[in-house]
Formats: sequence, structure tokens, C-alpha cells
Amino acid sequence: MTEDTDIMQQLDEMQQSALKALAAVSDESGLQAWRTAHTGRSAPVMLVFSRLPQFPKEQRPAIGQAANRVKQALEAALVEKTEALQQAALQKSLAADRLDVTLPGRTLVKGRLHPETRTLREIYRVFGDMGFQVFRSPDVETDANNFELLNIPQYHPARDMQDTFYTTTPGVILRTHTSPGQIHAMRANTPNPIRAILPGMCYRYEQIDARHELQFTQVELIAVGEGITFGDLKGTLDDFARRMFGQEVRTRLRPSYFPFTEPSAELDIECFVCGGKGCVVCKQSGWLEILGCGMVHPVVLQNGGYDPRKFTGFAAGMGPERISMLRYRIDEIRHFWANDLRFLEQF
Ligand code: DAH
Repeated sequence: MTEDTDIMQQLDEMQQSALKALAAVSDESGLQAWRTAHTGRSAPVMLVFSRLPQFPKEQRPAIGQAANRVKQALEAALVEKTEALQQAALQKSLAADRLDVTLPGRTLVKGRLHPETRTLREIYRVFGDMGFQVFRSPDVETDANNFELLNIPQYHPARDMQDTFYTTTPGVILRTHTSPGQIHAMRANTPNPIRAILPGMCYRYEQIDARHELQFTQVELIAVGEGITFGDLKGTLDDFARRMFGQEVRTRLRPSYFPFTEPSAELDIECFVCGGKGCVVCKQSGWLEILGCGMVHPVVLQNGGYDPRKFTGFAAGMGPERISMLRYRIDEIRHFWANDLRFLEQF
């Protein structure tokens, strides 16, 4: 065997073994190592070039060409392998990122209105339809507005009904009811007639239990004008009760006492749980107490800036939490301001 065929065979073997090694490469670092080993400066095929002068002169061109073909074949194989590896990596990452469009989506958590907000809005709507506008008055009040001007003088026994939060400023308190708003509304409008509802938070220093909270909402009602009668009060409240609790609902007015109204009454509606037959909600009476009301006391009219010989008016006050409790069968007033999602999500 001549030197010639011998080196030719060696070159062939170099190519075969290099390609075999390349086939086994599976990642970037393997590729780098292969590139250095088989196409780098000291790769076997490269060494053939440096050994060329050792071969007989006439054989050199053929050996050189053969070595060149091997080198080119290996370089081409390297390019092909590099692309194949990149392609494989791409396929792998695409497979990992694949979007499963059949996967069920996450349900959106939708916020909803607080039961108190719902009841309040309904009250606004019903009285709004009857021409009452919403009038706001402050939570922090003077003793005068909250009591004195409403005909509840110091040491009057009615003050005991509403245990008060006092501030460090003498004569300044947190309102115990929305009735002081009557004074604000009257003074802002006199001598024009008023038809307004006054919603707001009230505060009482009470022993907390299932029916009593330190803070609660009230909605006050006031109408002042010439010739307003008790019949107007009754008609307005009956209409309110029917729109709020259903056309069939029966109502009754019971005589009562409030210092700021004369005469005074309380409105009961027929129990909508049992239809008046008697149940736990109405404590077997068939009736539910909804609000206090009456004709605005002449002294209060005067304190509001109206001449009681010319003007009359009616007023009422209700607790929307109590209405919500009755409608939604809520047995605990403490749920209202506890912000417990387990409670709120039920509405
Ligand atoms: N202010 C009273 C209370 O908090 C409720 C009330 C009763 C308001 C009669 C009125 C009324 O306007 O006429 O208990």
C-alpha cells in the first residue's frame, strides 16, 4: 500500500469518526468541544496540512485536495448540526410554552353593593319619586342642634334614651340621631317649603349586642310648608311602605312620644315574613316597627326659622339597618360594619 492510499484511508477514517462523534453531540457545549477537536488548529485533518511537505511532491496536490474536502465536509456538517440543535431547542421551548386554550379560565371576582347601600339607595329612590331631595348634615354636632333646639333640654329624661359620645370640646358631640339635620335643613331653606331626606351615620355610647351598635345609619324625613297635615304624613308613609315592601302591605300608626314632634307616632308595617299571622321575626305580633314620626313641634319649627302660626310640617326617622335586617333576615346588626367577606358575599 502506497503512502498515498494510506493517507487517503486515514483521511476517510478521520471524516467517519468525526461525523460519528458529531451525531452524538446533543448540546451547545458538546458542539464547542467537537468544533475544537475536529476543525480546530490541532484537529487531525489540520495536522495533515502541516504534514504535507513530508509527502512526495507529486502526491501532495491530491492529498491536499482530499484533506480540503474532509475539512469542508466537517465544516458543513457542523453548520447543519448547529442548525438542527437550535431547531430542537426552539421546538422544546415552544412545547413548554404551549397554550392550552381548552383550560377553563379563572372566574372573576365581582364586587357588589353592601346590603346597607342597597337599602339606602332604594329609600332614596322611593322618596326621590315623591319629590324629596337628599340633604346632608354633619356627623359632629353641637349639643344645641342635637338636643336643645329639638326641644330636648338639659336634664330632660329623653336624653337618657340616647347615650352620647362627647368630644373634648364642651358642647360638641357626635350626633346621636339624624334629627339635628332638621335644624340645618330648615335654616338653609326658610321661609321656602322643604321636602328632604337626611341620611347619615349616628353614634351612641351603647352596650353592643345583636341589635345595638355604637354606630348605625338613620334616614330622617322632613317636610315643612303651609297647610301640611297629619294626613300628608300618613299618606307619605303609606306610599313609602307600599313601594318599599310591596303594594299589599298594611300599615298602622301607633301613638308615641318624641320631644320634637307633636303629636308623635310610630309606624308599623304588617310582617312580610308571616303576612301578619305571627312568627319569630315579628315576635308573634304580626307587625314590624319601622320608624318614629310626627308633626314637627312648633318650638322646633321656630328654632328652624319658620313661623309656626303659618307653617306646619312633618318629620320621621328610620334605621335602614333594621329594615335590611328584616328584609334579608339578618340576625346580627354587628355584621354591618365588620367588613367580613363571608357576610358581604351573600348579597
Ligand atoms: N330621632 C329619633 C330617634 O333617633 C327618631 C325620630 C322619631 C325622628 C320621630 C323623627 C321623628 O324625625 O319625628 O330615635
